[in-house]
Amino acid sequence: MSMDRGDTFRIAVMVSGGGTNLQAIIDAIASGKIRNTRIVRVISNRKDAYALERAAKAGIDAVAVSRTDYQDKESFEKALIRAVDEADADLIVLAGFLVVLPAELTDRYEGRMINIHPSLIPSFCGKGYYGLKVHEEALKRGVKVTGATVHFVDSGCDTGPIIMQKAVEVQDGDTPEILQKRVMEQAEWVILPEAIDRLANNRTVRDKT
Ligand code: GRF
Repeated sequence: MSMDRGDTFRIAVMVSGGGTNLQAIIDAIASGKIRNTRIVRVISNRKDAYALERAAKAGIDAVAVSRTDYQDKESFEKALIRAVDEADADLIVLAGFLVVLPAELTDRYEGRMINIHPSLIPSFCGKGYYGLKVHEEALKRGVKVTGATVHFVDSGCDTGPIIMQKAVEVQDGDTPEILQKRVMEQAEWVILPEAIDRLANNRTVRDKT
């Protein structure tokens, strides 16, 4: 239990890439859209993730736990679990974290770990569906509406209880890159902060509104 716990809701954010969802959370806390909340740690599995720059600029404690620094998978996973546990967070937010989490972690944080996925689950999700691939598949299938989903993380891949979703229109001429950007701007960067605010302030997280 940390000494300065107070009543501030502590979140740890796990990242692997550009960190635009992390930035959306940082900005939402700064603007008051997310209340009574502090990011206590950013954890990346890649040392070169731009998300780490964003954390540094925001003065947030950040650690990189890179698989290449460890002899084997077990010691890497132990280090990752330690990095999360040390944060002593109330909520773990996966924001573009691309490593399959060890069951020990998803078990320990069940109900206190959420993920943002760039489609309307159960479409275009599961093993292999991440980043641009999600949008390529949506365009290939010819859906007219896609979007993003925030869900609790369980032991499966994109299978936990859904918290929030937001639909985004697919437009003529969309490329995967254009669609990805629209889904980020119009859905991911909106519902992830909103979901965090709901969890941080004990609002019902799965109501219809
Ligand atoms: C986002 O599209 C997110 O939905 C997916 O990975 C991407 C992460 O982007 N999980 P960023 O690192 O937050 O910019």
